[in-house]
Amino acid sequence: MKHVTVGERKLRVLYSKQEIAQRVGEIAGEIKSAQMERLLVVPILKGSFIFAADLVRALHEKGMAPTIEFLSLSSYREATVSSGQVEILRDVEGEVEGRSVLLLDDILESGRTTAFAKDLMVARGALQVKTCVLLDKPGKRAVDLTADFVGFKCPDYFVVGYGMDMAHNYRQLPFVGVIEEI
Ligand code: IMP
Ligand code: MG
Repeated sequence: MKHVTVGERKLRVLYSKQEIAQRVGEIAGEIKSAQMERLLVVPILKGSFIFAADLVRALHEKGMAPTIEFLSLSSYREATVSSGQVEILRDVEGEVEGRSVLLLDDILESGRTTAFAKDLMVARGALQVKTCVLLDKPGKRAVDLTADFVGFKCPDYFVVGYGMDMAHNYRQLPFVGVIEEI
């Protein structure tokens, strides 16, 4: 089991940089097979920015040329427990109508964030909406939602790194880890 010290905290690595890179390549292949017409990739910020950056380059490697628009949503604020309320902090630019939308999120937990984004894209006339998450924590689902593309099924820990934060920290880490109790 690998541990990494970040500042004053010790983190246990759950998914290494190499494991993530391999899985991102595989997901890109799965997305290509779905043959989504006029693909618009919509990363849900902030947590998915690193995943999105790697995934769109992996899509390019598979010969795809999606366009990308960002949607910034918030449900957590400073807390590590979902408030259940989803807010639009920054909306997508441009038309969604007639596009195949691929929503990207870092982690699917209650499902409220992704479900909110999906409803929004459907209401705006998307041709179809599929969802892709790096991590799926199925144990905590509060709404009926299954992601179309999943990186890893994740145990029910609060994880950080590869874009994911705890109170705005640890997003920069190239791996996904769990903060060890001290
Ligand atoms: P949901 O709306 O409950 O599915 O939560 C999804 C959002 O909560 C994700 O986009 C993350 O930003 C955040 N989140 C959920 N679990 C974790 C975690 O373990 N670490 C960091 N962020 C998390
Ligand atoms: Mg998030």
